[in-house]
Order: sequence, then C-alpha cells, then structure tokens
Amino acid sequence: MLDSDQTSTPGRAKTSSQKLADWDRDHVWHSFTQMKHYTPFVVAAAEGARIIDVDGNEYIDAVSSLWCNVHGHRHPMLDAALKQQVDRVAHVTNLGGSNDQTIQLARLLAELTPGDLKHVFFCSDGANSIEVALKMAFQYWQQRHHPEPQRVKYVCLSDAYHGDTIGTVSLGDIPLFHKIFKPLLFEPIRVPAPDAFEPSVPESSTGGLDDGLKNLELVLQQHSGEIAAIVAEPLVQGAAGIKIHPEGYLKGVADLAKRYDVLLIADEVAVGFGRTGTLFACEQESVEPDILCLGKGLSGGYLPISAAVATPKIYEAFWGDYSERKTLYHGHTFAGNPLACAVSIANLQVFEKEKTLENLVPKISRMAERLERLNQSELAEKTRQKGMMAAFDLKVPAGKNETEYGYYFCELVQQYGVRMRPLGKTIIVMPPLSITLDELDVIFDAIDMVL
Ligand SMILES: Cc1ncc(COP(=O)(O)O)c(C=O)c1O
Repeated sequence: MLDSDQTSTPGRAKTSSQKLADWDRDHVWHSFTQMKHYTPFVVAAAEGARIIDVDGNEYIDAVSSLWCNVHGHRHPMLDAALKQQVDRVAHVTNLGGSNDQTIQLARLLAELTPGDLKHVFFCSDGANSIEVALKMAFQYWQQRHHPEPQRVKYVCLSDAYHGDTIGTVSLGDIPLFHKIFKPLLFEPIRVPAPDAFEPSVPESSTGGLDDGLKNLELVLQQHSGEIAAIVAEPLVQGAAGIKIHPEGYLKGVADLAKRYDVLLIADEVAVGFGRTGTLFACEQESVEPDILCLGKGLSGGYLPISAAVATPKIYEAFWGDYSERKTLYHGHTFAGNPLACAVSIANLQVFEKEKTLENLVPKISRMAERLERLNQSELAEKTRQKGMMAAFDLKVPAGKNETEYGYYFCELVQQYGVRMRPLGKTIIVMPPLSITLDELDVIFDAIDMVL
C-alpha cells in the first residue's frame, strides 16, 4: 500500500512536510531547475505509476521519474532482487574484479542487444556511457590492426542531447543548455537531422529523409578518413522535444556508416528498454551499431547504472600485452555495482515474465487516440508519438516566455493529480511502461481539462 508516512526514520521524530520543503529549498540545488522559481515537490512513497507526496497527495507519474522508470515503482521482483543482493554484498570494484551479478547482467545484455554486441563496459549514468563510447571509438582507430590515427572527429545530429559532461555537451545542440559552455568544448561535425513531424516538410515527401541522408553522405565524403564515429539517438531525439525521425533514417545512417567505414554509436539511453515499443530502438530498422549506449531504464529506473556495449571488432583493438599500452584507461568507482546489476537483471526478467512489450500494444493505441483528440484544441499543436514516447507543443501566446509557460501548464496539470515535466513549450507524456489504460486516461483527461 502507498504510505506517505515515510519521512520518519526509526528512532527519529517525523519531519514535517513544511520543514522538508524549507530545507529542500535551502540546501538541495536541483538539476535543470531555476531555484528562484522552484516549488518543492517532496515524494514520500510510490507504487506502480503512482507517486505520493509528503502531504499524502497522489499523482500519476507521467514522466517515469524522468524517463527511466519501466515496470512501475516498487515492483516486487525488483525490490526483492535489491533486498537479496544487499544481504550478500553491496559493492565490488569493477577495476580488475567482478561478482556474479555483474557477470550475469553482461551475459544477458550480450544476448538481448542487436547483432554482435557482446562486450559490456559498465558506467554509472547515461552521459558516462557516451563519454566512454567516444573514447573507445577514438582509441579504436589509434590502435587497431591498421591504425588510422587521423580519425579524430565525430559526426552528430542537429538538436542532439547526450548528457551534461563536457564531452557529451560538445556533441549537444540545444542552445539553452549548451551554448554558454562553447569555449570549453570540442567541435563536432553537425548534420541536420530530419523531423518527421515538422509541419513545414511537405506531406508528399518522406519527412526530410532523402535530404537528411544526402547531407550526411556529403559530410562523410568531405571528411573522408577523418571521422571516428557518428553518434545518434536512434528513432527519437528525446531532449530535442521528442523529435521523431522519418522511417528509414536510422537504417540509412547505419548503411552510410558502413559504406564510409565510420563507427556508429547508438545512444539508446532514453529510447532503450521498451520506450519505442521494442526492447531496443535499433531493432525497428534492423540496425547493429558498433557501440550501443544504455542507461535510464537499464535498472528499471531504480539505481544509477549505464553501459556501453561494443562489438568484438572494437574490443579486439584494446587487446594486448602491458607493454603495448592498449588498455582502455577509463572507469568509474561504482561501475558494475552489484546492487544495480541485480536490479537490472530482475528488470529484464520482468519484461519476459509479464510480457511487457506485448502488453504495450493497446497502451500505444490509447495514447495515439488521445493525442489525436488534442489536435482539436486551439492551444496544442504538433502532436507526435513513437511507442510510449509522446509529446505536443503548447501554442505560446505572443510575449510569453516558453519555459515559464510550459511549467505553468504542468503546475495546472498537477492540480488534476498528474505529475509532468515540460521541455520548454513541449509537453511530454512518457509514463512507466506498466501504466494501465485507466491511468493513461487520467493523464490525458488532466491535459484536456487544462487545455
Ligand atoms: C539520449 C540521452 N543520452 C544521454 C542522456 C544522459 O543520461 P544521464 O542523465 O543519465 O547522464 C540522456 C538523458 O536524458 C538522454 O536522453
């Protein structure tokens, strides 16, 4: 049962919700949050797709705890896996050591990921998995059998977002987040990524597919022999505002990467683990990247863990005697943490046991129906969806600030018992995959009411 009375620790008096809110404002510097306008939202408990705050108010979690919760909060199998593992060992260093949970998870990932991906490098957060993928690609060209040390450039997409470390910010293309850091960054080669839902693209065309691929090919020709890798979010660019690529773009990018002998790094941190309707987004276009980056949903959204999974071609370039100095000198203290791995294994087992992907079909249809209705509103536009990732844009009145307007909209939705987080004027609906049809209706009813 949901219980909001969780703010007390055994032996300690319960802290009032007001005090927690005050301390939150005073001491917690929240990510991506303008603290001047921060309204404390303090969660006490959660179950399934519902979260409950310290005052006992209940909300549907329409953002999956920022796109990472998969099977709902407090899933019995994930909870049990964590409890069992904590009774054995909580942490084992991954640097030159291992444990059964890390090994089992790596085996499972090697089995489930597309193609020949079989060497799993564990990290802690999504951005770290991209950082290490960039380094893997760079070092691969330096020390493979026929080295090409001049390959030091990366191609990435317009509107890209891959995290907040300096390497990933270098790849980023969201001015609000990235522009200020420009003097610190390396310069990637950016290609315009097509947007299947861009109203300016004529309906008769392929949503910008042909131009998108032509632009990429041109870059690959112009920079022949200089490019280490293409980095892309497959199918959907999440932080770009759920920018959905036209069908065939991912396959086209992968084919070009092969033709021009450039590595493909697929960032499935946001789209992995069922978000787009398949376990991995790459499956939908039969794409087998050289390095696949995973995060967020890997542990069902429970614990920080991520991974960069590489093919033998990459791995073998790092194989050698000490004297050859081919080791990948990269690592994180908590990489491959056994608690996180135990929960991640349970997360993958639930997909099979509960037929999570099969059960998404009616939910994806219900989201499509409800989104379609939003098109009739005079205040919403550009509804879009890929699997369980959906969004629409607010029509922001002239003179209003988009970010402020987005937050205002979400505050109003919260009054109807739904917790959302906007991206500027884009309102995103990305609930846990375990959400019920009735709960989906609660989300869209709230949106309808506010619109
Ligand atoms: C596509 C993508 N890559 C990387 C990241 C970074 O992940 P993390 O916040 O875990 O570092 C995100 C986060 O939203 C993401 O959407």
